[in-house]
Amino acid sequence: MIRTAIAAAALAIAAAGATPAFADGDAEKGRKVFNKCKACHDAEAEKNKVGPHLVGIMGRGAASVEGFKYSDAMIAKGAEGFVWDEDTIAEYLKDPKGYIPKNKMAFAGLKKDDDIEDVIAYLKADPKP
Ligand code: HEC
Repeated sequence: MIRTAIAAAALAIAAAGATPAFADGDAEKGRKVFNKCKACHDAEAEKNKVGPHLVGIMGRGAASVEGFKYSDAMIAKGAEGFVWDEDTIAEYLKDPKGYIPKNKMAFAGLKKDDDIEDVIAYLKADPKP
């Protein structure tokens, strides 16, 4: 009985942790988290690297940067009308390959909800140099 109560409490805590409040993200910390993305993405200039630039990513359709060679999977997403926002970027960064199978972003994902919140806050600030 007590065991069940403890298990239920643990579940409740886990569930609360799984729904991060993105409004709490810290853009300055996010700038540091973005170091993990920098090898492949530029968020300050409309310059493509291994990945497409992320200028204005909030509200941008998937696979919408002209001249970048996206995977078929990402192009198909874009054709569906899929849009990047706080929720979809968070899901993608948690598990890139699971969220959009066969997309070609070679990134394992971010483990910590805090890192995801912070990097989203940074991207929302539409960083300029
Ligand atoms: C090893 C290189 C690499 C790393 C590291 C990486 N990405 Fe990507 N990313 C890509 C590639 C390549 C694509 C294009 C995927 C496709 O076409 O399937 C992409 C696509 C994206 C997209 C969709 C862009 C669009 O125009 O539709 C977002 C958003 C994104 N990445 C965010 C991030 C963030 C934030 C990080 C760091 C936490 C990150 N990526 C780390 C290579 C990378």
